[in-house]
Amino acid sequence: MEIHAETVLYRSSWTAHADNGHVLLLAKDGERWLATDERGAGILQTIDGQRTLEQLVHSYAGSARQPFARAWLHVDTITRDALRSGMVATEPGPDGEALGEDALVARAGALLQSVNGDGRPNQRSGFNAPVALASHALQAEIEAEQPAEVDHGDVQEFYGNAAEEPQAELCCPVQPAPADLSHIPSEVVERFYGCGSPVGLADIRPGEATLDLGSGAGIDVFIAARYVGPQGRAVGVDMTPAMLAVAQGARPKVAERLGYDVAEFHKGYLEKIPLPDKCIDLVTSNCVINLAPDKRPVFAEMWRVLRDCGRAVVSDIVAEKPVPLAMRRNKRLWGECISGALTEEALAAYMERAGFYGLQVLRRTFWREVEGQRFFSVTVRGYKFEKQAGCTYLGQTATYQGPFKATVDEEGHFFPRGVAVEVCTDTAAKLRAEPFEGSFVIAEPAVDTPPDFSCCAPKNETPGGCC
Ligand SMILES: C[S@@+](CC[C@H](N)C(=O)[O-])C[C@H]1O[C@@H](n2cnc3c(N)ncnc32)[C@H](O)[C@@H]1O
Repeated sequence: MEIHAETVLYRSSWTAHADNGHVLLLAKDGERWLATDERGAGILQTIDGQRTLEQLVHSYAGSARQPFARAWLHVDTITRDALRSGMVATEPGPDGEALGEDALVARAGALLQSVNGDGRPNQRSGFNAPVALASHALQAEIEAEQPAEVDHGDVQEFYGNAAEEPQAELCCPVQPAPADLSHIPSEVVERFYGCGSPVGLADIRPGEATLDLGSGAGIDVFIAARYVGPQGRAVGVDMTPAMLAVAQGARPKVAERLGYDVAEFHKGYLEKIPLPDKCIDLVTSNCVINLAPDKRPVFAEMWRVLRDCGRAVVSDIVAEKPVPLAMRRNKRLWGECISGALTEEALAAYMERAGFYGLQVLRRTFWREVEGQRFFSVTVRGYKFEKQAGCTYLGQTATYQGPFKATVDEEGHFFPRGVAVEVCTDTAAKLRAEPFEGSFVIAEPAVDTPPDFSCCAPKNETPGGCC
């Protein structure tokens, strides 16, 4: 969505209704609606077709008494959601015919009920920018992502066949490094249907516990098994029995070649991972999330099984623009990892709202053009940090070291280079750890050593030991 500081924003006429902790904004034409919180609604109400995004941020910063960086984060996030839903536009547009208000409220209320989950961002992560909790556009997306013709059973059948008989035409925008494959049997390598090498980009340390979601014939689990070493653990989860059978069959050969057996495979769904909370240091997935009909529970589950300061490295296909409905209903294209693809912006939004921070695109490669739409393979990394102490200020400061003149984190903290900014205990712990480690100097108060809220083992220590 092309918006920048100078963009002037327009909005439809709407009415606002407070409803059980949400504010429902109902466009007068009855076609569009969006649910957000009071801050989100307040920001959207100030859009007037006159002021630029930057001017809106200044005005919100003043009225909400927020520092500019956090105000920018809030206005930018909710404005992009509203743009995606068509409640806000970058061009003036005609208002449709007005429906009766009671009819509007009943219609939007019923739709809101039917939206899966409440859509709130994960508050334990500290990310709490006002966002669209639900809207007619999200509803349409969910409905379109769950067309009657495509469900788990179809994907299972598709990849059951691809496990029985390798299908070279399904492969692959990016190949794993040949050096990573020397211990892996050919029946596994022939059934590689990934679109990146998340394990190769994950900087795995010996002793870590890794989990590959939608592990297929097991290629990324076996690559990880070598990096984690005999003290580690490399887990794979997949729902397709024929894929699991190939992986289980190859496991003794891999163990023999490595001299130890740390790979394990479980039957299960990405949406309900069969593992306890906080037992994994690294979650990977390779061309799988696009296949899930409902993406939200997948990211929530990733966050749940990760230990604090653990990381997710996800390779997936993304679409340049939202995939049109007709294409989403194409079963074959769904199985080929095309129809269910998110845009890169939506992928990042899903990760952020699940609580991941420090997001970084590690690799992007062009994959295919289908019906005039361009598709890319991307690998994105994000970290988990669970807030422990809330906003407790003990006099700690964080000084950003550069190379940029200033930087802003996901919570809207603004750090000019070389300036000591007071931070809470949680933010201090977060900035000490990956991926920010080394970019900030954290100074402790002169007196009273603060309690250690950090759960992150420094890089060279055995991971996963705390919390
Ligand atoms: C495109 S293949 C990729 C396999 C493997 N990651 C690789 O790189 O070769 C997708 C795999 O994800 C599995 N899968 C798709 N959706 C799933 C879900 N909701 N839960 C569990 N497994 C799923 C399929 O069974 C299939 O093995």
